[in-house]
Amino acid sequence: MRLRAEDLRLPAPAVIGRVVECLERVGSTQDVVRERARLGAPEGYAVFAEAQTAGRGRLGRSWVSPPGRGLWFSVLLRPGFGGDRLPALTLAAGVALARACRRAAGVAPELKWPNDLLWRGRKLGGILAELVTEPSGNPSVVLGVGLNVDLDRGLLPPELRDRVASLAEAAGAPVDRTALARHALGQLDEAYRLMRQSGFAALREEWKGLAAFLGRPVRISGPDGSWSGTALDVDADGALLVAVPGGVRRVLAGEVSLRSAALPFEPFGTDTDNMLYDRAIIPRRVW
Ligand code: BTN
Repeated sequence: MRLRAEDLRLPAPAVIGRVVECLERVGSTQDVVRERARLGAPEGYAVFAEAQTAGRGRLGRSWVSPPGRGLWFSVLLRPGFGGDRLPALTLAAGVALARACRRAAGVAPELKWPNDLLWRGRKLGGILAELVTEPSGNPSVVLGVGLNVDLDRGLLPPELRDRVASLAEAAGAPVDRTALARHALGQLDEAYRLMRQSGFAALREEWKGLAAFLGRPVRISGPDGSWSGTALDVDADGALLVAVPGGVRRVLAGEVSLRSAALPFEPFGTDTDNMLYDRAIIPRRVW
């Protein structure tokens, strides 16, 4: 069933989801919310699309968003802090979305720093936090969420089929997108208001309890190249702490993939940032 704004709107004191717009097909809900922000939309404004033709993920990659097969939405936030706390916001959103998946579908995803939801090591969803400067000069954040609900993996290129998961598959039953969207907005709102009040510290232990890679050997690909270590912890700002010979490195941006200590190569399927790929590889209208 199509998502309807009247089923999703949340009453005060909710911030996220107090205004909801449901659209049929857009380029990217990120851009729709940016435009609404430019026109003065209130904080918490949420835009859902049945399909996106130019959905995007982190690092400029594409996000496949076929009609009715997932939750593709973005929310406008004015958290009153800048880029240095975006990782914490992304992590807090991960905790909220994991809760929503448990409540709406009985599926317990793991979280991979900074923005992935995984099921059995496969990508179930992702979060994209983008900073925008409004005409007032104030920074705001467009928080985008993609959750695969019932993706037809048969339509994906063979090399990706084993790297992507859907909630319905994980649940072994159909998943009601309206219920999932309501839980997602409700949990995001709760986490966001808690974070504004008390910072990420209030959600840190829950995040760690869901973390996929803590205590394991990882490879980091970041602004300063690719290097290895052991993922130790996340700090109160949401930075990943990685043990390396001689100390601990603090990571605020980059990609994490699991390294097997025993193998000199990356075993298939461990680099889980796989829902995202270049348009060059996959035809745009694969669905
Ligand atoms: C990632 O894993 O890199 C983040 C993926 C975020 C995808 C969502 S779908 C709704 C919103 N609109 C977009 O274009 N991207 C985000």
